[in-house]
Amino acid sequence: MTQQLRRKRTRIAATWSVVAAGLAAAAAMTMVMAGTATAATTLGASAAQTGRFFGTAVPANKLSDSAYVTILNREFNQVTPENEMKIDATEPNQNQFSYGNADRIVQHARSQGMSVRGHTLAWHSQQPPWMQSLSGTALRNAMNNHITQVATHFRGQVFAWDVVNEAFADGGSGARRDSNLQRTGNDWIEVAFRTADAADPNALLCYNDYNIDNWTDAKTQAVYRMVQDFKQRGVPIDCVGLQSHFTGGSNYPSNYRTTLSSFAALGVDVHITELDIRNAPADAYRNTVRDCMAVARCKGITVWGVRDSDSWRSGEAPLLFNGSGQKKPAYDAVLAELNNGVPPTTPPTTAPTSRPPTTPPTTPPTTPPTQGPGGCTATVSLNSWQGGFVATVRVTAGSSGTNGWSVSMTLPSGAAVTNAWSANRSGNSGPVTFTNVSYNGRIAAGQTTEFGFQGTGVGTGMTPTCSAS
Ligand code: XIL
Repeated sequence: MTQQLRRKRTRIAATWSVVAAGLAAAAAMTMVMAGTATAATTLGASAAQTGRFFGTAVPANKLSDSAYVTILNREFNQVTPENEMKIDATEPNQNQFSYGNADRIVQHARSQGMSVRGHTLAWHSQQPPWMQSLSGTALRNAMNNHITQVATHFRGQVFAWDVVNEAFADGGSGARRDSNLQRTGNDWIEVAFRTADAADPNALLCYNDYNIDNWTDAKTQAVYRMVQDFKQRGVPIDCVGLQSHFTGGSNYPSNYRTTLSSFAALGVDVHITELDIRNAPADAYRNTVRDCMAVARCKGITVWGVRDSDSWRSGEAPLLFNGSGQKKPAYDAVLAELNNGVPPTTPPTTAPTSRPPTTPPTTPPTTPPTQGPGGCTATVSLNSWQGGFVATVRVTAGSSGTNGWSVSMTLPSGAAVTNAWSANRSGNSGPVTFTNVSYNGRIAAGQTTEFGFQGTGVGTGMTPTCSAS
């Protein structure tokens, strides 16, 4: 795909969140003063303050439950149809498409200013019987036709698609999951992404899976390598969805933030797409949200249902509201964490502001350190694909620590910065300079912080110099 389309995609996503932010804030009318920060009192409005979404899975039949809809409209600024966009729902008979329930959810969401996640275009599960019985070329063609038809129908209405869901095996193999789709050839995933890109070039295209939360798990590593490979070869992928079902025996891992920041460092957004936690402990919810807020490219969180009684695992009471619609302690923890991302003075209107990641960098530097004049060094590592790159810059304080820092480098001819995170930028081609933002200027002696930027063209050969104040 062209850079022009990719930029358009970014704009549309940003527009959605700004619209959602405005409407959620207006609808809630619940802005209160907390210290010097303006803290919102609903989940969606709070998340929107840092450019994020906070959503929920919605089944069509709950739209006639007024107690449910009251909470939905008040608290959330994003929805994911729980089952209504799956293959068995949208193409019950081959080449006969059925969109009624999905359209109802989309209409409701849009009327409330909420964005919609499309879930899901290609999956081994919830396939209609006709697809289950297909194989080989016939199945590959049917998959592509399904993706084309469904993505075209919802074009302009969903901000992100779970293009492929759950394609990797559990356990230690790091292998693909066996399925009829996998048996059509190992390239089925990238073909699905290219097909979705052709049908809906403006939506974010995501890979979504569960049990990819623990950074050291073989499954997480396997998905990471696939995304890295896709970025390197120019397969159109924009985001990774971590379902994060901490239910059914799977727990929140202490290295979750490392997982989020490692995927983000590949140059994709990260979404937490189906969060639920057995018995909804406030601590685990707090940690999960805190980790997302610490990673600039963690753009939003979706919980998998509103009330415990709405959950696919209602026996585990894993959600933020009880069956009577009352807020649980986990709700308060989540809201507080979302509001902690609010900067102390003026709320941002565009770029997310969050605490700096505290996890170690995941990609080794490829450029030797350059000693800056005032006690810091900077190294840059690149993830490149045809026509673009993401640069991750690591700033290391010298022996006396820093109060602030400034990193300069010259971009190769033809290269240009399109956006940067965790740093202020001046210049976008030729010589560019990045300076610390409020939260990452102070680095203790010998310690590091990271910022990053995305660019078009070829980014190789940049030599950063660092100066400290
Ligand atoms: C679940 C739904 O919540 C249930 O209603 C349905 O019976 C089965 O699917 N991973 C996914 C979701 O990607 O689509 C699943 O949703 C939960 C696991």
